[in-house]
Amino acid sequence: MTQLPFRRKTAIDALLGAADDALRTLSGSVSASRPTPASQRAVPGSQDARRLSAGLMRVNHTGEVCAQALYSGQALVARDPRIRSALQGAASEERDHLAWCRERLGELGSRASVLDPLWYAGSFAWGVASGLAGDRWSLGFLAETEDQVERHLDGHLDRLPADDRASRAIVLKMREDEGRHGDTGRALGARELPEPVKAAMRAAARVMTGTTYWV
Ligand SMILES: [Fe+2]
Ligand SMILES: [Fe+2]
Repeated sequence: MTQLPFRRKTAIDALLGAADDALRTLSGSVSASRPTPASQRAVPGSQDARRLSAGLMRVNHTGEVCAQALYSGQALVARDPRIRSALQGAASEERDHLAWCRERLGELGSRASVLDPLWYAGSFAWGVASGLAGDRWSLGFLAETEDQVERHLDGHLDRLPADDRASRAIVLKMREDEGRHGDTGRALGARELPEPVKAAMRAAARVMTGTTYWV
């Protein structure tokens, strides 16, 4: 019997994979591979506190939508298979974050941001652009993103209501994972980004957090 020749992964396969990532992320049909760190699901007692928690967790959910887009764009054009597999490993942990945040938003009686598709598109473009600049720049972009996210999550731990133990547990675990993703990027040879690029990333993050908190 004649064996079919092994078919190499084509650019079309990779693009279809990226489109599939986008649809899964934006439709919310992503399931976590690890259980949520939130052991008890009580919501804050006051309406103001619930609203604050929902706004902050919506921002975190959009951050995770951006992470999926970024890693998907970077993996699409990464040259080194070692780097591609590190990006895919981190993306799998980010999928857990995405699913945990989405589930918590539902428990808080809220929903994901209507702006998520826009942020996905922008982050995907950044991921592809940084990947095309070369693997070490791409890793530098990843490491800087993870550092900025870690500092942002520290701020949320200060602001989340004290009686929202579930959201706090999720954010704490996310912060631990993001720190490891940044370390992985640096261990693989991340380049230090120029200060204007870091400042542009901080500015984009401010626009994202300032809008998705409300919508
Ligand atoms: Fe994350
Ligand atoms: Fe991360």
